[in-house]
Amino acid sequence: MPQQKAVILEKAKGPFVVADVPIPKPGPDQLLIKVQAAALNPVDWKIQAWDFLIQEYPAILGSDLAGDVEEIGDGVEGFSKGDKVFAQGYFVKELGGFQQYAVISADLTGKIPSNIDYAQAATIPLGFNTAAIGLLRAQPEGAGLNPTFDPNVSYAGQPALVVGGGTSVGQYVIQVFKLLGYSTIIAYASARHTDYLKSLGATHVIDRREVPIGSLAEMAKKIAEGPFKIAYNAVGDNDSRAACLDTIVEGGQVADVDPEAKDPGNGKRVFTIVGNSHYPPHREFGRVLWKNLPRLVQDGAILPNRVEKLPHGLAGIDEGLQRMKADKISGIKLVALPQETP
Ligand SMILES: NC(=O)c1ccc[n+]([C@@H]2O[C@H](COP(=O)([O-])OP(=O)(O)OC[C@H]3O[C@@H](n4cnc5c(N)ncnc54)[C@H](OP(=O)(O)O)[C@@H]3O)[C@@H](O)[C@H]2O)c1
Repeated sequence: MPQQKAVILEKAKGPFVVADVPIPKPGPDQLLIKVQAAALNPVDWKIQAWDFLIQEYPAILGSDLAGDVEEIGDGVEGFSKGDKVFAQGYFVKELGGFQQYAVISADLTGKIPSNIDYAQAATIPLGFNTAAIGLLRAQPEGAGLNPTFDPNVSYAGQPALVVGGGTSVGQYVIQVFKLLGYSTIIAYASARHTDYLKSLGATHVIDRREVPIGSLAEMAKKIAEGPFKIAYNAVGDNDSRAACLDTIVEGGQVADVDPEAKDPGNGKRVFTIVGNSHYPPHREFGRVLWKNLPRLVQDGAILPNRVEKLPHGLAGIDEGLQRMKADKISGIKLVALPQETP
């Protein structure tokens, strides 16, 4: 069986190690992708630290990948060997991004637009899915703002808030709000990201180092002209959720990245986002999302996160995740290049 290199998590809460493992075979409707770039996400270090989502060890993680179509499974249409593609990984080892070859369902894979490279493409899948599922997908899994990506849907005149606008997810949330036509898009983030977040579509950036989270709602309401019906908590802690709830009006919604977020039952809706289109209940929406995403990127409506490329291929991932765990990542996405593994 042909072998490749992968970062494996041998057992629950064990270390990440680079090891030789078999190259998976694509099943029907799947593509085998030679992974050129894989982005790191907080969920990767959280799984190692806390042991959740994984059914079977050894595990291969990695929720964001970009590369070349290497082999095509039965029944796949619309892809050829050598196509440059990007896709979201999943928590099953063949589908993880932290390896040199991964298999992904063709209907949840997009062709990389010509205006971005592999590393930029790898920053998009998880962050964009988490923003789009939370905001666009029909209720109850999403806020239901535009489940079909209808270009005529518009929330012009309305304000929206994102707490954690500088996070990778928050950057996509800003862009999705812009796509939806919101007139006022307020991001709570460090002031040093102001110009960048405004370039993505934020109309106002409230400095999280200057304005305490407890004063955010009041300040946001002063800026906006109309009532907030939507807020997105991309940080996921209780204080951020409370600020979102204080900002929105009755009947409004808070999309929250925290899997434990609870609905307060007070006429304001809080729901938790599962930001992965492989998750079976999201499959249908995921297909619609992946049909639209490459075009949105090609048109410049969705821009990738800024990238820091890690050295040493897959061998650089562990250190990158430790930096992320230590809260040392600010406004950029770490990306590994698996084919450069020594
Ligand atoms: N539910 C899901 O499916 C799902 C999917 C994806 C992510 N998530 C979760 O969503 C969160 C964000 O993920 P990510 O990948 O976007 O994170 P990330 O980009 O790695 O987050 C780093 C950023 O967080 C910002 N930040 C930290 N604490 C903050 C606070 N209290 N207020 C505002 N900004 C704050 C930092 O801002 P500074 O630059 O100012 O330091 C930094 O830029 C994580 O908890 C992740 O696990 C959940």
